[in-house]
Amino acid sequence: MRLSLPAGLARLVLLAALVLPLGALAACGTGDGDVVNVYSHRHYDTDEALFRQFTEETGIRVRVVSASADELIARLEREGDASPADLLITVDAGRLHRAMERGLLQPVRTDALASAVPDHLRDPDGYWWGLTRRARIIAYSLERVDPDELSTYEDLTDERWNDRILARTSENIYNVSHMASLIAAGSLESGEAWARGIVENMARSPRGNDTDQIRDVAAGVGDVALVNSYYVGRLLNAEDQASRELGRQVGVFFPNQDDRGTHINVSGAGVTAHAPNRDHAVRLLEFLTSPEAQEAFAQANYEYPVREDVEPGETLAGWGDFVADPLPLSRLGELNNDAVQAFDRAGWR
Ligand SMILES: [Fe+2]
Repeated sequence: MRLSLPAGLARLVLLAALVLPLGALAACGTGDGDVVNVYSHRHYDTDEALFRQFTEETGIRVRVVSASADELIARLEREGDASPADLLITVDAGRLHRAMERGLLQPVRTDALASAVPDHLRDPDGYWWGLTRRARIIAYSLERVDPDELSTYEDLTDERWNDRILARTSENIYNVSHMASLIAAGSLESGEAWARGIVENMARSPRGNDTDQIRDVAAGVGDVALVNSYYVGRLLNAEDQASRELGRQVGVFFPNQDDRGTHINVSGAGVTAHAPNRDHAVRLLEFLTSPEAQEAFAQANYEYPVREDVEPGETLAGWGDFVADPLPLSRLGELNNDAVQAFDRAGWR
């Protein structure tokens, strides 16, 4: 009897010795106090510099897993509540909405975030927050198109654009979100009619990425292409001369300036549903929307800051101001299925 207590204690001590290091290890991997784990589609040197600055200011280390947006979302689904991820950074409000619908994100809201990010550039419940803006522009041949001929997305269905339009496939999220904005501005029927008109005017069947569309404008395959603004910015500032020359062969046109404005989208971030370091993720989100970080974060990919008090970079400033469609971007996700349907019916493959 006299030995049973020390024996029990010894057992406890042994158990603690076995369990505590394991617990401490697990904490190192995910939930310790000085780390935030980011799943990001971005891999820019400037992001690393920003993360280092964040660490200096807060003592919180930033660990980044970089992969394509679809890969990151698949990984979050696979990992479930065991995921080490705290913050998902990805592109397109439509895709952020999908991540939310799959239960991969959680709502957050702070005064700093709410004052930094305009209402229409974030989820109303705080599941995702816009970080940078991009415009869906018309890239046109400087040789064969007079910008005075250009006006709206709708006008591209006119027969004078027959055999002149370049576009990528309809399954691409940029196109799906753009279609969602057209449906929001009109109806499912008008969206479908627009898609049919564009298909009729295509110079070739849809293929390639946004850069390929620009390349085909320069090569004379077509005269105008629907692309995200930063693709032109990237080319104009590329390391190699061939890319810079390619960028210089197209003009940037912002459609619908006299009505609802040019379709815009965001890259953005959401705190993951099972974030082990939720508070650190919120702090990083606040940092990325702060004036000091916004300029560098947006410029890394030739995008526009979401903050209205931060100026865009030099290349973008050179294109001038434009009127952006004020549609709440959460609508793009909500109309995603309608958009897919409209493309399907119109035969935009
Ligand atoms: Fe892109």
